[in-house]
Amino acid sequence: MTDQSTRAASHDPGDATADSLDRRTLLRGSALAGAGVLAAGCSTAQAGTPSPAAKPDSARFNPRSWESVRAQFPLTRRYAHFSAFMLASHPAPVSAAIGHFRDGLDSFPQQYGLGMDDFRRSDDVRKALAGYIGAKAEDIALTDSTTMGIGLVYGGLDLKAGDEVVTTEHEFYSTHESLRLRAQADGVVVRTIKLYDDPAKASAGQLVARLRAAITSKTRVVAVTWVYSSTGLKLPVKQVAAAIAEINQRREDEERILLCVDGVHGFAAEDVTMQDLGCDFFMTATHKWLFGPRGTGFVWGRAEAWARFRPVVPSFSMPAFTGWLTGQPPTGAPGDLATPGGYHSFEHRWALAKAVEFHQAIGKARVAARTRSQSDQLKDGLAKLKHVRLITPRSAELSAGIICCTVDGLTPEQVVQQLFAEHHISAAETPYRESFVRFGPSIVTDPQEVERVIRAMATLG
Ligand SMILES: Cc1ncc(COP(=O)(O)O)c(C=O)c1O
Repeated sequence: MTDQSTRAASHDPGDATADSLDRRTLLRGSALAGAGVLAAGCSTAQAGTPSPAAKPDSARFNPRSWESVRAQFPLTRRYAHFSAFMLASHPAPVSAAIGHFRDGLDSFPQQYGLGMDDFRRSDDVRKALAGYIGAKAEDIALTDSTTMGIGLVYGGLDLKAGDEVVTTEHEFYSTHESLRLRAQADGVVVRTIKLYDDPAKASAGQLVARLRAAITSKTRVVAVTWVYSSTGLKLPVKQVAAAIAEINQRREDEERILLCVDGVHGFAAEDVTMQDLGCDFFMTATHKWLFGPRGTGFVWGRAEAWARFRPVVPSFSMPAFTGWLTGQPPTGAPGDLATPGGYHSFEHRWALAKAVEFHQAIGKARVAARTRSQSDQLKDGLAKLKHVRLITPRSAELSAGIICCTVDGLTPEQVVQQLFAEHHISAAETPYRESFVRFGPSIVTDPQEVERVIRAMATLG
């Protein structure tokens, strides 16, 4: 075995790092790496081996104490984890719920939890999410990731050749690729615009104006992201929705523009409901800022939007099976029918309700305020460093938990490596053609660690 394969096969806590390095090595040799795509997002291009994780302290969980919240996570304390935009560590209650369901499935897979039990538990998950986002459970489809939700929505919308989708060049790969596949499949026209030149100087009015100017009489969908992982810019979705609603007033129902939002980096980082956002479809994972089970997510759509959607993957739902058995097209809750079927890693899906409960125990508004205050603290500190250029807007109106920046004389990869190796800070570089250094403070970081980042960044000058 080579050095690399030895590391990848081990069960050392450094596995994640070894995997990242292996993927990076692979990507370096590929055409994708040349375009700067993917490599950075998978990355952390980091040296060193994180120490074993601390044991979470679940018995004495006090949701009012941030230290107690942090103690729920088995994250190694040797490192500061500014990477909420990647993949969640499971807090103790979520791990316990996964363990409970897993044990049941392992003990008797055929009997435990499937059939009616799955319908009931999945409904409980939908209800928990519905309460959290202020929506109806029947309008929620369960998925395994943001990407799955994006693929379902853009693959399943009722569009015909010549219909236009307006999107932006700032979207993540998943949106661009889903739209490319849709255009290839049936001649839907994708128009890609630049929403802003310099994100740090963007204004809400200008963002909305550029989107509005791109809409034509053929536009049926606007495909955007709430908080851009490319720059940290937060789109004023409510204002975009209002501009689209104004245009829609003059249109027949079937020509109405649907506002579809990749919401993954605002969900559980910001304290809003679906009504606050005003979009038509919202696709997110629950394995990032919510710290839910890895491999979980959902799509929410308003009833009129689901009416313009055709499921892509057969659902394993009661109405779909009944329809199949009786030879009738299925009728039922749109979220249920849009949920991709097949057996899943149910222990993760069912444990999602616990993740929502965990956040609600802490308080949705408190989580958002904690994310916001650390994000502001970090931006204020970075703004004072002459060799650092902030890419993300400073205002709460146009930013959330993601902070992007550059450092004079160093590539993002070099910055991330140095932060990791010399300061035990886990950040990332953005997986886009133009790459930046990216931080994601959250409930697993604290203000002292934010200070540590600022001090570390100061040494890079
Ligand atoms: C904006 C955005 N959307 C979607 C994704 C993919 O999320 P998921 O892993 O849940 O598919 C990412 C990155 O992980 C992202 O930055």
